[in-house]
Formats: sequence, C-alpha cells, structure tokens
Amino acid sequence: MDYIVRGGNRLDGEIAVYGAKNCALALLGASVLTDDQIILHNCPVISDVENMLLLLRTMGKKVLRSGDTVVVSGGLNTTAAPKSVASLLRGSALILGGTVARYHCAELPLPGGCAIGARPMDIHLSGLEALGVTVEHTADAVYCTGVPKGAQFTLRFASVGATENLLCACALAEGESTLANCATEPEVAALELMLNEMGAEISGVGQSLLHIKGVARLHGADFTVIPDRIVAATYLSAAAATLGDVTVRDCVPTHLDAFLNVLGTRFNVKRYENAVRLRCDALPDGYGTVRTAPYPLFPTDMQSLLLSLAACSRGKTTVCETLFENRLEHNAEQLNKMGGDVIVKGNVATVHGRKLHGAEVSASDLRGGAGLTVAALCAEGMTKISGIEHVNRGYADLAGDLNSLGADIVVI
Ligand code: EPU
Repeated sequence: MDYIVRGGNRLDGEIAVYGAKNCALALLGASVLTDDQIILHNCPVISDVENMLLLLRTMGKKVLRSGDTVVVSGGLNTTAAPKSVASLLRGSALILGGTVARYHCAELPLPGGCAIGARPMDIHLSGLEALGVTVEHTADAVYCTGVPKGAQFTLRFASVGATENLLCACALAEGESTLANCATEPEVAALELMLNEMGAEISGVGQSLLHIKGVARLHGADFTVIPDRIVAATYLSAAAATLGDVTVRDCVPTHLDAFLNVLGTRFNVKRYENAVRLRCDALPDGYGTVRTAPYPLFPTDMQSLLLSLAACSRGKTTVCETLFENRLEHNAEQLNKMGGDVIVKGNVATVHGRKLHGAEVSASDLRGGAGLTVAALCAEGMTKISGIEHVNRGYADLAGDLNSLGADIVVI
C-alpha cells in the first residue's frame, strides 16, 4: 500500500484520538490470566491489535469485537504461541508472563536467526528466572516452565515489555514481589490499574518501584484503553509542519508533556483538560537538542515526527536516539531524497532545516512511516510513500484522518 501525498495544504480543524496500540496490546496480553471476561473499550482497529486478537483466538480464547469494544474470555487450549501468528507482531511477547503465571508453562517463538540478539528479551527472561521460572531457548523460541514465586528483581533497564510481562507473572505468583526500575509509561500504568481491577494487589501504580502481593486467582474486568499519545503527537506534528491550527480531542495532555515541552516554546500550544490545540504561525528556528529516553522523557516513538519537523523547519536540530538506534538511519535517507539535510552519525542525527520537495520514499517501520507522512504534507509537490502497511499497524486510518483536516492524501 502506498500514499500519494500532495504537499502544501494547511491543516485546520478538530480531531479525536482513539485507543493506544501499546496499551491495548498489554491489556490483551494480560487477558490470559483469567477465563473470565475481559471487556476492553476504546480498543483501536489497527492491524497489530487484530493480529493480537488472532493470536489469542488461535490459542483458544473466545474473542468478540463490536465496534471499538472487544470481549476476550475462556481459557487457552495451548500454551505454545504458533509462529505463523506470533511473528506478525512484536507485541505477541506480551502473552509470555501471563501464560506462564496461569499455566506454569509457555512457549514463544522468536523471529529470525539470532533472535535474542536482534530482539532482546534478556530482561523479560532474567526477571522470570528471578521468579523461579526455568527458561530455555533455542534460536527460534523460548520455553518457560515452573510456578512463579515472589521475589525481588531490579530491571537493568526500564523496559516497557519486560515490566508488563513481569507484572503479569507476579500478579499470580506465590508470595510477594518487588520490581525496581520498572517502566512508568502511561500504558504500563494502565495495565497495573486493570490488573488491580482483576483482583491483583499491586501498589505503586505508575511508579518505578512496584510491590505485588501474589493472589491465587484473578477475575474479569471492564476497562477502557487509554488514548494514543503517539497518534495525538502525529496530528499535532502535521499541524506544526503545515502552518496549521489543529485541536486534538480525547487525549491526555500530561501524557504528551515531553513532546509539548519541545513544541510548546515554538508554537502556540494550548492545553485543555482532554485536548491540545496547536497553531503554527511560522516555522521555528530548529528544535535544539532532543534525546529520546523512557517516560516521562522524550519518547522514541515520537522521534521520527520530530526528525521530519526539524528537516522542514529553518535552523539546526540535533536528535539523539538512545533506544532504537536503527530508527534514525532509514528516515534520514528518505528525508534527504526530499531535499532534506540530515546527517546521521551513530545514534545522533544533525538536521539543518530547509524547504522539502516531493520524492519517492519508503516507510520501513510504523513510526518512520508516520514521520514521512508529516514531511510529505509540507513538501512542495507530490510524495509517494510506499510501505504503508507498516503505518496501518498502529494507525486506524492516518490518511483519512489527515484528509479530514485538509490534507490531500490518496491511498493506492
Ligand atoms: N531491551 C533489552 N532487553 C530486553 C528488553 C528491551 O535490551 O529484554 C532494550 C530494547 O532493545 C530497547 C530498549 O530496551 O533498546 C527499550 O525497549 P522496551 O522493552 O522498553 O520496548 P518494547 O517493550 O519492546 C514498547 C513499545 C514500543 C516502544 C518502546 C519504548 C509495545 C508493544 N511496544 O516496546 O512501541 O517504542 O516500548 O517506549 O508496547 C511502536 O509502537 O512503534 C513501538 C515500537
């Protein structure tokens, strides 16, 4: 799937945000902890979530979707995630902790040859081992067996996925656990709240030090997926790049603090209780130096948006990607095809803003594709972006949403 974007239109209007992919995936991963109904509202219709539902269904869960409400119930009939489905999304790893806690065994295929190296899960696995679970792995899969027992564990890095898996394992573990240096992303906090609604005893919700009293059984929950802060940032970036005026509704402005701290001094930004309005009267003179880091600092998932904004602004910007180094290189090359001046050395991009022009570019990942779309909106002429299936993993209809604000994007 490709986007054909005719750049130059000013975006104007109001748009609502839907549920966050990374919250929905974590909550769905936790659904294996109970046979009772997990009812999720505001569950986005995006391909990563549909693939996670397919994975649960393939493993025996009953899954019903009606609009943006999803109901998951029943038990698993296998604890081995089939490779054909699990390899469709990185988030499939989020069923590991819950499966081993509930069934005392789990098998998760890993993609590619040097799987653990290319897609590290060492923190997930060393945390499970600290809980007394036996972990074995081949190049293709990881096997976990044993009953999790309460323990103290410090994550060597505040990994989102590892925190989520370990929380699920600790929730049904025998005894009490303390997890230190946990991720504090809003999506992790939402999982903590849902687990507590299911009967878990987690204290320290939203903090990096968590105490979990294991319980024997968890029950169902009726929970609402939090708004997608990355989608909100995407719409705001599109407004900023096009000298536009956009109000993003149904979001949580505090979840956007790090992003708004960078944009807020350069644009006219107004925060409301559940909305943010951004008006751009002139392109800024660069964005200074921005480093990605775990929440509450600047998120890696908004880095490609910022790179595009920097490329089409006027002055110098330095972007340092500390989480996923390979997220810089590809988009830098694509932006340079559009006339950009982006030089990447290691994990640092130096950007000198200038007027971009249309070109044929490709998206190699979800966030990169969104970033290129923002760049194309402000470029002169037509941009063809291929690889839009990556974008569809996390956006329900990015082209339609931006078109509703005045963009000119054709999907082919
Ligand atoms: N890491 C390890 N070992 C581990 C786990 C992680 O070395 O066992 C490293 C990673 O290689 C990376 C860093 O730790 O350098 C952060 O990874 P983290 O585990 O926090 O990321 P994740 O759980 O795999 C989630 C989101 C990502 C988002 C990151 C960072 C989901 C499903 N995914 O991934 O979202 O970028 O946190 O915030 O929640 C996206 O939405 O496009 C996306 C990639």
